[in-house]
Amino acid sequence: MGWGKSLKVPSIQEIVRNDSKSIPERFIQEEKERPKLVSDSPEIPVIDFSLLARGDEDERRKLDLACKEWGFFQIKNHGIAKEVLDHIKTAAETFFELPIEEKNKYSMAENDIQGFGQVYVVSEEQKLDWNDMIYLKTLPVEIRNFKFWPLSCPGFKEALENYSMEIMKVAAEIYANLSVLMGLDRDGLIKLQGELKQGIRMNYYPTCSRPDLVLGMSPHSDGGALTLLLQDDQVTGLQIKHKESWVNVKPIPDSLVVNIGDAIEILSNGVYKSIEHRVITNEKKERISIAAFVNPDEHQEIGPLESMVNDELHRPRMYRKIKYIDYIRQVLTMKLQGKAHTDIVKLEIK
Ligand code: SIN
Ligand code: FE2
Repeated sequence: MGWGKSLKVPSIQEIVRNDSKSIPERFIQEEKERPKLVSDSPEIPVIDFSLLARGDEDERRKLDLACKEWGFFQIKNHGIAKEVLDHIKTAAETFFELPIEEKNKYSMAENDIQGFGQVYVVSEEQKLDWNDMIYLKTLPVEIRNFKFWPLSCPGFKEALENYSMEIMKVAAEIYANLSVLMGLDRDGLIKLQGELKQGIRMNYYPTCSRPDLVLGMSPHSDGGALTLLLQDDQVTGLQIKHKESWVNVKPIPDSLVVNIGDAIEILSNGVYKSIEHRVITNEKKERISIAAFVNPDEHQEIGPLESMVNDELHRPRMYRKIKYIDYIRQVLTMKLQGKAHTDIVKLEIK
């Protein structure tokens, strides 16, 4: 399938490998976009997954609040074996350590979104983000394209297969809880999204001698339904917009960071928020993160659930219906630029 055309960009990891002090002009952000130091930011909510899975109602209410007020939360006790997490982290590290000639064998093709490269680069003038990435479609298994999988990295395939399966179980339990919170049966949200699709992106943020000038990833909201992120245990980089300020998502070892994407915001009629986030760089340590996106089937139509629209409660319909593929196509042809996507389907509220 063809997607919006993305321009080729240089590997920042390679640039830093050759000269750790170099900050090429195209990576220097406009003054207003440059990150300011964030000190003592509040902690984002932490949800105990094992309680959710047991049907604990207090924990489900915590999840409700987290999705309404933060759009982001961390989950502990998710049940994914430490081994599975360690293997996927090692797989990502091994891939990014490869020589550039080897990584380029998995380069993203024109008009595709899979492989090693960047998707959101739409003009030569656009500022570039301080990261390298590889994106692979993982589930259902039929959509895997092994041409883009670095099979020469020992253990990569097995690690990704196991991780992608485990992540889907966690996502399914979160969907079940969100379904109940939105007035549906446990399988409600999964049913109405059609066959769920999963893709995994590994991000590598090299060290940067001037973190005040660049961004690891520009502010954006996620276009899909749910994102589950395994972040570096040590290095803080992810920041989310909360009450007009940037808040650090401090790593909790072996936990997952979960966020609501635009599709859930639309389905929930804006009650659950798809929040703007960005990544900053670190002077001393590189950072790797692994994001799993669990999204609706492309041909599924998404729009506010009837149970979430209620004029009497001052919850008028906020968005029009749209086929997910038409939505995500538009997202993929824009650069990452804050929370601009949901405007595509926003209705005028009279
Ligand atoms: C993102 O995918 O939006 C950022 C992930 C990260 O924390 O590196
Ligand atoms: Fe994101």
